[in-house]
Amino acid sequence: MKFFIDTADIDDIRDLASTGLLDGVTTNPSLIKKAGKDFIPLIAEICDVVDGPVSAEVAATDFDTMLKEAHKLRAIADNVAVKVPLTPDGLKVCKSLSDEGTQVNVTLCFSAAQAILAAKAGAAFISPFVGRLDDIGADGMHLIAEICTIYDNYPDFDTEVLVASIRSPMHIVEAAKMGAHVITSPPDVIRKLYSHPLTDKGLAAFVEDWAKTGQSIL
Ligand code: E4P
Repeated sequence: MKFFIDTADIDDIRDLASTGLLDGVTTNPSLIKKAGKDFIPLIAEICDVVDGPVSAEVAATDFDTMLKEAHKLRAIADNVAVKVPLTPDGLKVCKSLSDEGTQVNVTLCFSAAQAILAAKAGAAFISPFVGRLDDIGADGMHLIAEICTIYDNYPDFDTEVLVASIRSPMHIVEAAKMGAHVITSPPDVIRKLYSHPLTDKGLAAFVEDWAKTGQSIL
């Protein structure tokens, strides 16, 4: 399972990259706004820090402008994956870019039907938003299960399921149980994966008992 981080905060990206567990980054216009930096140089900086795919999203919604923006984003670095919305024009851009050999992340997916279209358009990644579905009382992880099953039925689909809009460690665990290829998570949720109160309690006891032995390993 690949771990992507869902942020445009370069400090968080550097910090998590240093763990050696980070396989890529996803950004979106809202995350760029939150970062408060210029988009193009920021994506270049992120691409320097992380070897894996860095998703940079187009801002336009019509085919011609999205395609021009996509080419500009693609030129930033070899590891840019262009992110396009799941719309008819977005999928046309996806097909065109994937035919050129550019990785495309199709975003804002909320149904299995949409995920089928993205795979047929040659997307490298499909991003179903589980948290936003949960927010409206639907079952986000059920959608992941559906998409994994459908993609497994068609080995010629190369599209990876990228679980997005993650809100908790359990989303990540459930995604792993379903065999989703990638998760993209906010930094705080990735950090929560490390935590267990029994780990903290057990370590405190080991440290205390070791001190009582009066020994030193080094
Ligand atoms: C995915 O690529 C999106 O950037 C992201 O996961 C959206 O998550 P949100 O619903 O927390 O905004």
